[in-house]
Amino acid sequence: MTTELGRLIARRIALTGPISIADFMAEALGHPHLGYYRHALPVGAAGDFTTAPEISQMFGELFGAWLAERWLAMGRPRPVRLVELGPGRGTLMADALRATRGIAGFHAAIDLHLVEINDRLQALQRMALGDVAATWHARLEDVPTGPMLLVANEFFDALPVRQFEKTSRGWVERMVGLQDDGETLRLALAPGVTPYASVLADAPAGAQAEISEAGRAVAAAIGARLRRDGGWALIVDYGYEGGTHGASLQAVRGHRRANVLERPGETDLSAHVDLQALAQATGMPTFGPVGQGEFLQRLGIMQRAETLKSRAGEAGRRAIDAALARLIGPDQMGTLFRVLAVGDSRSAAPAGFPDGPSDAT
Ligand SMILES: C[S@@+](CC[C@H](N)C(=O)[O-])C[C@H]1O[C@@H](n2cnc3c(N)ncnc32)[C@H](O)[C@@H]1O
Repeated sequence: MTTELGRLIARRIALTGPISIADFMAEALGHPHLGYYRHALPVGAAGDFTTAPEISQMFGELFGAWLAERWLAMGRPRPVRLVELGPGRGTLMADALRATRGIAGFHAAIDLHLVEINDRLQALQRMALGDVAATWHARLEDVPTGPMLLVANEFFDALPVRQFEKTSRGWVERMVGLQDDGETLRLALAPGVTPYASVLADAPAGAQAEISEAGRAVAAAIGARLRRDGGWALIVDYGYEGGTHGASLQAVRGHRRANVLERPGETDLSAHVDLQALAQATGMPTFGPVGQGEFLQRLGIMQRAETLKSRAGEAGRRAIDAALARLIGPDQMGTLFRVLAVGDSRSAAPAGFPDGPSDAT
């Protein structure tokens, strides 16, 4: 049994022909009424997946320290637009703000903007922030100009990707079409070689690749703002750096893997993020990507964990150790999740990164 949105997508395909996987994702996640990210409460134990800020307060606290340090390095601009893309339950920002209350002048300078398309998550973000004033937007473009500090954790993986397969004909795009019953969605290869072939690396037959035009467009918008008004962006996501990484698009419902095409609107869809492509799209100097484990350790997560453990009971200490292992363990989030900073190459490398900007630009 499909969903109402599944029937709408099938009708569109019946009328106009197969659509790209990116178009399918855009509908499944972003349809104004029925899209998954318009109404679902995806993050947390009752949702479809858990994210780093929900695992431990240490994550948001260290992000707060990073942002405050960058604000000081920028010469304490006032106001500074503090922007988060896709804030989920608002946990990262709440932890970041709590951790930076003591930085003289920082909170007075902050003008907080949250970019979020999900009304129910907006309500949770409002609750998490308490009496901190914030403005919500559907797009980064709507945030007022001015020096900016931006953070995006697991935002880019929710943006649509096109998928390609290398065949004996060359690179061909994977499309979403219909089975013979005229209702059930199925994957099919486009008939001709894709015009994207020129930007896809050479690879043997059977190789698969993904391109996120939406992700590159957001990265370009971040870069344009930073170039014009100054500031820094910190982007974290699970992903890879360039090349034909394969087909990573996955579907999750109720913390379980699901079929990508089944129950659109009720299923989370996400794809690994090409952080090198994002870095290039910013057109700005970038730092990293480094693994989340390395980044958090450079920022002092071990010391923070010790401090928290010294105030906790036996069960609390065990929970902190377990959270630490999830956040930094190479077999957990420590390596797969990558951290990229975008900013000013004249500056020394920001905290958390090895010296010198990357040469991605
Ligand atoms: C995977 S969740 C991550 C949430 C949060 N950053 C965290 O780490 O818990 C993705 C977030 O981006 C939001 N989102 C997804 N697509 C969006 C879009 N096109 N524009 C704005 N927000 C979007 C979702 O509603 C959600 O808040």
